[in-house]
Amino acid sequence: MNIVNNVHEFDQKLDGQERRAPARLREAERRYQTLFNASPQPIYVYDVETLRIVAANEKMVQRYGWTREELLHMSALDLRPAGEEERFRSGSHEPPDVDIVRTWRHKRSNGEVFDAEVTAHDFDLDGRRLRLVTATDITERKRQERALRESEERFRSLTELFSDLYWETDENHRFVRMTGVLVSRRRIRREAFEGKTRWEIEAPDMSAEGWARHRADLEAHREFRDLVIARGNAAGEKYYISLSGRPMFDERRQFRGYHGIGMDVTASVVAQEALQKAAGDLQALSRRLVEVQEVERRDLSRELHDRIGQNLTALYINLDILLGNVGVRGSAEIEGRLRDSLEILGATAKMIDDITAELRPPMLDNIGLAAALRWHGARFALRTGIAVTVDADEDFTPETAAMRDVALFRIAQEALNNAAKHAHARNIEITIRVKQGELIFQVRDDGSGFDAAADSGTRIGLGMRTMRERAAAIGGQLEVTSSAGAGTTLRVRVPL
Ligand SMILES: Nc1ncnc2c1ncn2[C@@H]1O[C@H](COP(=O)(O)OP(=O)(O)OP(=O)(O)O)[C@@H](O)[C@H]1O
Ligand SMILES: [Mg+2]
Repeated sequence: MNIVNNVHEFDQKLDGQERRAPARLREAERRYQTLFNASPQPIYVYDVETLRIVAANEKMVQRYGWTREELLHMSALDLRPAGEEERFRSGSHEPPDVDIVRTWRHKRSNGEVFDAEVTAHDFDLDGRRLRLVTATDITERKRQERALRESEERFRSLTELFSDLYWETDENHRFVRMTGVLVSRRRIRREAFEGKTRWEIEAPDMSAEGWARHRADLEAHREFRDLVIARGNAAGEKYYISLSGRPMFDERRQFRGYHGIGMDVTASVVAQEALQKAAGDLQALSRRLVEVQEVERRDLSRELHDRIGQNLTALYINLDILLGNVGVRGSAEIEGRLRDSLEILGATAKMIDDITAELRPPMLDNIGLAAALRWHGARFALRTGIAVTVDADEDFTPETAAMRDVALFRIAQEALNNAAKHAHARNIEITIRVKQGELIFQVRDDGSGFDAAADSGTRIGLGMRTMRERAAAIGGQLEVTSSAGAGTTLRVRVPL
């Protein structure tokens, strides 16, 4: 046991032995000596009885800061900071277990205290019990561990700040971890999830295809985002969670599972559903309004035509008969009044004709959309002085699509009115094209134009809304393009 040769008395003994020892033994001892000093860890030997340090290697000198001479005059206790003596004394009588690594507080010559991981081994030499101690400074390791722990904690607290749930699954997609406010507020019971896959847990709205798609993502180790799943909690309340996850791989590129976050989106899903329903209700209502308007107009037009129109005709006939007889007995004044009345009656009948035509253009029922628009355009031009042209690919005979043609006619009526009212246009072009299974109906004016994008949000009037509604009711879509000074183009596309 040459490793203790730093102690003078042992050296002497060894000298004595050396003279007798065979060369092979001396060689072995020399190797032990080298090993002892070359060890990357500090090693020292102390007397279990007196606690005196009897040997210390190179690393011990380097790491602890005392010279070898100093160390050999110190007790093992001197390596401990104040307050550790008691613990050391009570422990040091026990024979050490070589397999057990203990952590002690050690100190250096400059008073610096550090954590040392220690293994000890007892042996006897010349009737004395000696203990060989290997000490590893684990300050750096502990610091790294602490840094790692802190960084993990920071990561977790950040994740919790940004999301309602943090989760991890293993390589078989079974949940192994769940933290976050969804768990702490007990919306999610961890027990209900742990050890299970996502699809083994009840999700009322998820279809088989939905799961299949998700599982395909997982099998391919693809990242996934914003997967919204409905779940029920213990109290039977439904909640919605939006999940995103990423695969995890170890240093050998082996798949280790997924980790990700979840957001409780119940409030926004519920609001979204309510909004959708409200929008649906509103649309149904305005569609109904358009229908009712059309029916009312038709009824009104029929009443005007059938009743008032017929009465006016009867009145006209009566007045005409009177006029025929007036020459015999009447005065010139009565004759003049009768002629005047007949004229007023004629004009009124014409007016009512116009109104009924406006309410329900008879042409639509008889001659088709293109012709009806030409007729309406001509009358509009007379009234406003704005020239209207109609250019149609087809005549659109009345049988083809009555509903659609009424809607398009009404849209044209409103577009013409707008062009006269807002645009001060000089020309309006109506075109009807049939292209790739679509009917493209377009009204273009050369007026002042307006900011269509800005108006669509706020200043949209009933006219635009009704046009949009009418277009939607026939399965079409209304587009308005306009800019200040560049006129307005209104386009409706309807699938044929
Ligand atoms: N052809 C156009 N040229 C210029 N501005 C237009 C044109 N069409 C619409 N606008 C603008 O868009 C707005 C909305 O039009 P909309 O037809 O919806 O309402 P309105 O004509 O003002 O009222 P309503 O049609 O309900 O009687 C108009 O007030 C006008 O400012
Ligand atoms: Mg209008």
